[in-house]
Amino acid sequence: MPDREKININYLYQKKEDGEKVSWLTAYDYPMAKYEEEAGIEMILVGDSGGMTLLGYDSTLPVSMDEMMIMTKAVTRATEATFVVGDMPYMSYQADQAEAIRNAGRFMGECGTDAVKLEGGRRMAPTVEAMVDAGIPVVGHIGMTPQSAAQLGGYKSQGRDAKTARELIADAKALEDAGAFAILLEAVPARVARMIHEESDVLIYGIGAGSEVDGQILIVHDVLGLFELFTPKFVKQYASLGEEIIEAVEQYKADVKSGEFPQSEHSYHISDQEFDKI
Ligand code: KIV
Repeated sequence: MPDREKININYLYQKKEDGEKVSWLTAYDYPMAKYEEEAGIEMILVGDSGGMTLLGYDSTLPVSMDEMMIMTKAVTRATEATFVVGDMPYMSYQADQAEAIRNAGRFMGECGTDAVKLEGGRRMAPTVEAMVDAGIPVVGHIGMTPQSAAQLGGYKSQGRDAKTARELIADAKALEDAGAFAILLEAVPARVARMIHEESDVLIYGIGAGSEVDGQILIVHDVLGLFELFTPKFVKQYASLGEEIIEAVEQYKADVKSGEFPQSEHSYHISDQEFDKI
């Protein structure tokens, strides 16, 4: 049981006012979310990246609402204080606004998230406005948006020339005007992120967007060394748990083969008296 109070949007805005950065990580399952909460993380995103890091898809596109529901419920069951954001998967919000509101409502109502996140700037602004009107707190996500990787020509940083940087600034403004309470910038130049941060009244968070934003998020499997397919430039790895898992499993296998495991302390015992009766 955490001895800190539940984090809400007021807390996040207070941190912005105080100039204190907010820490976010992704999580997709109960134990990881428990460890993160115990470590005092302030926000968790149940990202559709879980489709790749946890479920083994080769992009985020195949991830379904049902899969997101399972992952998100596991995370909200594990957390009490942390602010949890549900990530709307591909085609759960793009096709029509009513469907977007219904699916966002599933994150909030069935899973108990504190907010939802969706990808897209100006083109998603009317949908964001409709969701906010329906009472749903929305985080907008712009820059390198993985669900549009095919359209963007791959997983590439965005806004690195004046024209596309201006487009990013317009996207951020549109999301703010539509009522998003926070905007996540992914893989954009630090100077462009700083400019957006300076010009916005809402919370601006970054993943690969430099340090002059209101907080940072990374994918927890990258941070812990649990995902090897590719590692973006912006990742800082804090542990090599994948290597530790392999070493532990190799040692277990060797102990089973050699008879080193199990020892007496791993076995159940019966008294001589009872055994003699058998
Ligand atoms: O799905 C996800 O984990 C994300 C991150 C890139 C922030 O959207």
